[in-house]
Amino acid sequence: MRVLIDEEQVGQGVRRMAQFITAQHGDRPLTVLGVMTGSVVLLADLILLLEMPLRVGVIQASSYRGGTQRGELTIHDELMPTITGCDVLVLDDIFDTGHTLAAIVRRLEMLGAASIRTAVLLRKEGTQVVAMEPDFAAFDIPDEFVVGYGLDYQDAYRNLPYIAVLESDDLHHAK
Ligand code: IMP
Ligand code: MG
Repeated sequence: MRVLIDEEQVGQGVRRMAQFITAQHGDRPLTVLGVMTGSVVLLADLILLLEMPLRVGVIQASSYRGGTQRGELTIHDELMPTITGCDVLVLDDIFDTGHTLAAIVRRLEMLGAASIRTAVLLRKEGTQVVAMEPDFAAFDIPDEFVVGYGLDYQDAYRNLPYIAVLESDDLHHAK
């Protein structure tokens, strides 16, 4: 495991994100939607730094991968509060291909959100295949598999307080 962004730097990134959101949105009510499960740590840390009237909800996307084909993305919004007419901020851990965030934004548009903005902690360089970009990304990182601060490898490592690159040695120790 190699530390890529240490705990102090992650904290600085989250504070920059909070400042950006505050500058863009002001003191109007905001619904923050965390994409489960990778955004849980970011969601908890970020909302403590926001001062506008705030609602918190969660949304999940899962993809079924049959064979080598990328599977259909299914959006689970059963636990999400009503967002019709609301200003929504979608929060995710990482923007990789972009499929997840793009699909979630499409769903929220269908449900009639007044406005939709997106923020991620990490954005991988050179892996995007969708037309959209997140409104805010705290860090641009190389195309390596990372864990920690909510990001997992086979459900492990979410509780690391920093972002680390998983190395081949670590793959055997997960779980
Ligand atoms: P996208 O739809 O390709 O943008 O993928 C986004 C999702 O893939 C994220 O929400 C993560 O759950 C997962 N993911 C992408 N890259 C990584 C990584 O390096 N480590 C852990 N999870 C990742
Ligand atoms: Mg995720």
